[in-house]
Amino acid sequence: MQFEILIPRADLERRARELATAIAPPADGAPPVVVAVLEGARPFADLLCRHLPGRPSWQGIRASSYGDGTVSRGAVAVQGEEQLEVRGRTVLLVEDIVDTGRTVQRIRESLFARGAVAVQVATLLSKPARRVVPVVLEHVGFEVPDAFVIGFGMDAAGCYRDLPYVAIHPTEGGSRSA
Ligand code: IMP
Repeated sequence: MQFEILIPRADLERRARELATAIAPPADGAPPVVVAVLEGARPFADLLCRHLPGRPSWQGIRASSYGDGTVSRGAVAVQGEEQLEVRGRTVLLVEDIVDTGRTVQRIRESLFARGAVAVQVATLLSKPARRVVPVVLEHVGFEVPDAFVIGFGMDAAGCYRDLPYVAIHPTEGGSRSA
């Protein structure tokens, strides 16, 4: 199937390098704890960490929001947070795409509840037209229109994550699991 390419691979790489340069190291000089929301943020987290000072490794958590098809309905379930050691640390939360903002809000609150001193969000994509929760996003790769996108980690019903670019899915299929 041919897709309309929204962001080619070269642009994704260039932007990840720019973001990595713009992400200031925590004030205490320690590297941030990098937490990626799986599965979608895996390729972006890999790319970003490759360009961050000290090439930090990242840890993954899983998030899914309940809804039907492509429509997120609110409650966000998160798995794997209990394994994160964030007390007293600055966390860099890496997302593939921020849509309603509920996932970022839910995870940010829980990181603070677990003792993180600061949380910064780096998201590859943001869809501002769909925002429900007014989340602050410190680092945004690209703003995208209100269309269902796939590729570079993002899926439609489990497919297309391995496309090397971001494309628009023609029929807006897919689930909203991260
Ligand atoms: P939220 O609505 O901001 O909580 O986003 C929840 C999750 O939905 C994101 O982390 C993505 O994994 C997924 N998502 C939202 N929009 C898209 C899209 O256009 N394509 C693929 N996944 C999406």
